[in-house]
Amino acid sequence: MQVLFVCLGNICRSPTAHGVFQQVLVNAGVDCQIGVDSAGTAGYHIGAAPDPRSVAAARTRGYDLSELRARQVDVGDFERFDYILAMDQSNLDNLQRIRPADFSGHLGLFLDFAQAAEREVPDPYYGGRDGFDYVLDLAEDASHGLLRHIRTESGI
Ligand code: 4NP
Repeated sequence: MQVLFVCLGNICRSPTAHGVFQQVLVNAGVDCQIGVDSAGTAGYHIGAAPDPRSVAAARTRGYDLSELRARQVDVGDFERFDYILAMDQSNLDNLQRIRPADFSGHLGLFLDFAQAAEREVPDPYYGGRDGFDYVLDLAEDASHGLLRHIRTESGI
């Protein structure tokens, strides 16, 4: 089982989702059965580490994002991943445009698995510290729901 998180730049929201979900998998003892990656729809930051504000906010909750590096999503990702989860509707629209007709996995919004009423993870890039903490709140919420869903569907 392979899960890909997608945002615009792959330096704020999707690396946060990646790091949080990875930790949720480790805590649940299922990190060997479920793989995680993240990517951006844009190529602006290819090869870059996550935004230092995302790394710092995540570190205060015990997540280490520092080793992640940005990459751009590719049509081949539809062959490698079972779940491709967008942070917002604009990212999802872009993914739907390149989705191969034979992709049989799940393409949707990450927050479809959250309890929060929010449907999109707001882009924190141009805002303050609170925005980065809020991305973490949403990622923690949706990660627990996503793991519950995957375990129900797959029996992992
Ligand atoms: P992300 O945030 O999509 O959560 O990684 C952004 C990062 C960079 C830019 C926009 C959003 N940018 O315009 O460079």
